[in-house]
Amino acid sequence: VTNEALNVMISGAPASGKGTQCHLIADKYGLVHIAAGDLLRAEIATGSENGKRAKQYMEQGQLVPDEIVVMMVKDRLLKPDSKERGWLLDGYPRSLSQATALKGFGFEPHTFLLLEVSEDVLVERVVGRRLDPVTGKIYHLKYSPPETEEIAARLTQRFDDTEEKVKLRLNTHHQNVESVLALYKDITVKINGNVSKEEVFAQIDSVLTSLVEQRKAASGSV
Ligand code: AP5
Repeated sequence: VTNEALNVMISGAPASGKGTQCHLIADKYGLVHIAAGDLLRAEIATGSENGKRAKQYMEQGQLVPDEIVVMMVKDRLLKPDSKERGWLLDGYPRSLSQATALKGFGFEPHTFLLLEVSEDVLVERVVGRRLDPVTGKIYHLKYSPPETEEIAARLTQRFDDTEEKVKLRLNTHHQNVESVLALYKDITVKINGNVSKEEVFAQIDSVLTSLVEQRKAASGSV
């Protein structure tokens, strides 16, 4: 049986809306959402040595070393659900060495979505972002405010979501992005990320719907 599960990578600057779109994509397409940043924050929460080391880099807006990140992502991709349902990789790879490692393990995406957002918009999105620790949902004080007072009262902010830190994160992004883009340029689809989250999703949805149809047609014809 041909495995029709989709493998998708999503890339974009800090706060370009990757996490927000991944929730919408995972809901509709059933893909397993694997976010490098979320895996790292979970590791920090365990209090492990790797978590402590990772946090030092994240606080500087720098890339966490490969020996921590690469295995973490690989282990998650190797779990059976990722293979069965397909995967949606968010925030990885962020460097040529990470991309090469992934290829070496045999993981290839069918499409590479690139969220393009202008820089002034990014800063505003970062400083207004809030997270619900209970549901994991991503909010924004202005663009996606919490639905109830109860949720509003429990929202938290990420330790690297200040204007100063986002500038460091943006620098790191600019230093690394070109080498990753070059590797996936044949399967890259650029998405205009400056519009509302519903309008961004509509663009992604149409890309993924036609990809699913193409893959069905291809497997049916064998
Ligand atoms: P990570 O957690 O991946 O952070 P990031 O790349 O900076 O991206 P964000 O999570 O900040 O933003 P997002 O694009 O998901 O945006 P969101 O949907 O939340 O990484 C953190 C750190 O971990 C890195 O700095 C690095 O140190 C380390 N790390 C991670 N991966 C690594 C790797 N592979 N290798 C080494 N180190 C690694 O949206 C942002 C806000 O905008 C929200 O408030 C949202 O509500 C709002 N919003 C979203 N879309 C819209 C819209 N269309 N209109 C209006 N508002 C919107």
